[in-house]
Amino acid sequence: MDGLAGLAALVRRETGITLASSRETALRSALRRAAPGLGPDAFLREAADPVRGPAAVARLVDEVTTQETTFARDRRQFDAIDWPELLRQASAGGDTGIRAWSAGCATGEEPYTLALLATEAFAPVTVPVDVLGTDISGAALAAARTGHYRPRAVQGLDSVLRQRYLTRDRDGSYRVGGRLRGMVRFRRHNLIRDPIPPAGEAPFDLIVCRNVLIYFEPPVARRLMSAFERAVRPGGMLILGAVDSLCRYRPGSGHRPAPGPCRAPGARPVPGPRAGARQQAEPGTAQQAPATAGGPQRPAGRSAREERLTGALAAADRGDAEAALAEANLLLTEDPMDPDAHFVRGLVRLSAGDPAGAVDALRRALYSDAAFALAAFTLGRAHDELGDTTAARRAYRQALRTLDPDDERHEFMLQQVDIGDIAAACRARLGGEA
Ligand SMILES: C[S@@+](CC[C@H](N)C(=O)[O-])C[C@H]1O[C@@H](n2cnc3c(N)ncnc32)[C@H](O)[C@@H]1O
Repeated sequence: MDGLAGLAALVRRETGITLASSRETALRSALRRAAPGLGPDAFLREAADPVRGPAAVARLVDEVTTQETTFARDRRQFDAIDWPELLRQASAGGDTGIRAWSAGCATGEEPYTLALLATEAFAPVTVPVDVLGTDISGAALAAARTGHYRPRAVQGLDSVLRQRYLTRDRDGSYRVGGRLRGMVRFRRHNLIRDPIPPAGEAPFDLIVCRNVLIYFEPPVARRLMSAFERAVRPGGMLILGAVDSLCRYRPGSGHRPAPGPCRAPGARPVPGPRAGARQQAEPGTAQQAPATAGGPQRPAGRSAREERLTGALAAADRGDAEAALAEANLLLTEDPMDPDAHFVRGLVRLSAGDPAGAVDALRRALYSDAAFALAAFTLGRAHDELGDTTAARRAYRQALRTLDPDDERHEFMLQQVDIGDIAAACRARLGGEA
């Protein structure tokens, strides 16, 4: 194994994050920042040193992890937290306050947001709320502890909340006030290596692990999901990132998951499939044409279709596979080429643990609309589940090529999932080749 491949293997062992050795430039520059002047082989020797090794590895981990986060990121997910209900459950378990864990909290915006929202939810009453923020990156945690942020990080908070909980420095940056600081503690924790819940921590009423699982291989992510399920108190809540939910790492029973990425009924109208989109298929992602070749004949009245698709997505989102498939099948009787209906079928199959069925459905979606980036992304996840990394990479490349921030369909299909998060997830799965 050459030095760089050895470095990628070390990162994977330490963090669970797969970096292809093809990610040469990114890995080399992370190494340059972590250990200036050391080449991969020299670094590996340093990493093996019992005294200097752990600090060297920690510096590399700081450099290879993605710490993108903001206050109130994906706000709708936070809005789904029923704080009084969490308190009721905690009291039923004999506790006087709520215990929350933000796992993979990066520079701390997420745990501070949880503390802020809990305070707002109970105001003017003060309820004890203990928020633990953990991350593998010591540098990220050091920044979290300072509680000092650039304006961009707090943009998601309205000005009233900013004034109430943060103070503004002369240079325009913000500092988290004492009230929130008193509710949040930080500690280093490696989701791959360390016990879950972290040593000495009792089960939590709320676990938030967003935009972290996407960096891990599906079996690792699934193992973590099960561990989180055990670490959350019955009746508690587990929140994954919207992109993680799109990957259908669904929580099991016994606690309440947050809403997934699909829109609930009554939300904005569904844009129809785009005309002329049947082109640019990545070789291998498109399958044979379904029965009615010759182009989709879109039904004239869009409203019935909109309603049906909304219902199908909502059913898929709440895990009601039967209802979702029934709605999708009705759409397909009207238009056997309907890419949205095939997409819903793909999501349901993937959730049901049938990645081969998902591949089939998603290929059909992409046959009808090769620019359907979400279908390509989900197809990548399905191939990952099947262990077919070559096909998965092809699909992620197709998703990256076709992700279009102005595509209305993404707004409709996903609630507050940042297209940038999906692009980052594709890049992570491609090991930085993109
Ligand atoms: C994109 S940030 C997510 C921040 C925040 N949860 C959010 O959604 O805004 C991903 C974080 O996961 C952390 N991470 C990666 N691998 C980890 C591991 N094995 N154990 C704990 N944290 C890890 C990274 O250091 C990084 O801070």
